[in-house]
Amino acid sequence: MDPVIQIEGLCKDFRVGFWRRRTRVLHDLTLTVHRGEIFGYLGPNGAGKTTTLKLLTGLILPTAGSARLLGQDVRLVAAKQQIGFLPETPYFYDYLTGREFLDLCGRLFRLPTGVRRDRIARLLHLTALVEAADRQLRKYSKGMLQRLGLAQALINDPSLVILDEPMSGLDPLGRKAMRDIILGLKAEGRTIFFSSHILPDVEVLCDRVGILVGGRLRGVGRLDEILKTRTESVELILDRVSSDLAIVLRDLAQAPLLSQPDGVLVRLPDQERADQALRAALEAGARVVGVAPQRLTLEDHFLREVQGKTP
Ligand SMILES: Nc1ncnc2c1ncn2[C@@H]1O[C@H](COP(=O)(O)OP(=O)(O)O)[C@@H](O)[C@H]1O
Ligand SMILES: [Mg+2]
Repeated sequence: MDPVIQIEGLCKDFRVGFWRRRTRVLHDLTLTVHRGEIFGYLGPNGAGKTTTLKLLTGLILPTAGSARLLGQDVRLVAAKQQIGFLPETPYFYDYLTGREFLDLCGRLFRLPTGVRRDRIARLLHLTALVEAADRQLRKYSKGMLQRLGLAQALINDPSLVILDEPMSGLDPLGRKAMRDIILGLKAEGRTIFFSSHILPDVEVLCDRVGILVGGRLRGVGRLDEILKTRTESVELILDRVSSDLAIVLRDLAQAPLLSQPDGVLVRLPDQERADQALRAALEAGARVVGVAPQRLTLEDHFLREVQGKTP
């Protein structure tokens, strides 16, 4: 596999507070992203995602370690020419139109006039901004600005696209539009590395994810694999539970039973114990009101990772 991002032992310290004390916000990050992947870089606020992306794009320098993009050190201009970047809070010029803004970005990459014109037309179409192209940016909505930010990141036809929270602040429609565009970029053979704290968006998009908590990478892998490593629990709702059966169920569940309007809720830690509980319940003459396997979502996984950190 062809590595597009190679991060090795990356550390970043910031000096904070009155005494300018040195605090490490990124600890020994090692990570490889391959060509054609959509990689989700996940973590709660303050985890160090933006710091990592700034290190990757050469906006700040690492305290230790190195990062290579497309085989080149991120500090080289040649590396930057082949990447597109959407910052977390992009800055726009209020009085430029969308088209003028993209033209400015194209000029920064020294693209010839004809190339700029064609590419801008294509990007305006891709980001559904054709109609708004000649309107001033102060009249754009948040979603439109976010899409323009993405168009800007693609002006140099990059093979690697780095996006910092591309979905944040968007309504469901806006998020769907952003997701579809990202999937389209992958279909064109580009590699996408994006950060997010919005999990449902990530679940449907990413080939692999990395989970960053407190500046430390806590897990990397295919989403389904990360989620599979945890046992799924099963919830049963049973009615007419005798006191003898209740003892057996409590034993299997290793937890107290919860009484509910339509019966007793039993949460079994795995499928095997759920089967046992069901057999016992039927034999004892109880009635099965409901069986609900609890699929562990990324949200749950994420919460556990975050909680696991706090002592
Ligand atoms: N320039 C800076 N100076 C000092 N501390 C910073 C600076 N930038 C970020 N931090 C701190 O680094 C940590 C990680 O921040 P950030 O990378 O923005 O997290 P995320 O993007 O995951 O929300 C936070 O605790 C933040 O306060
Ligand atoms: Mg951030």
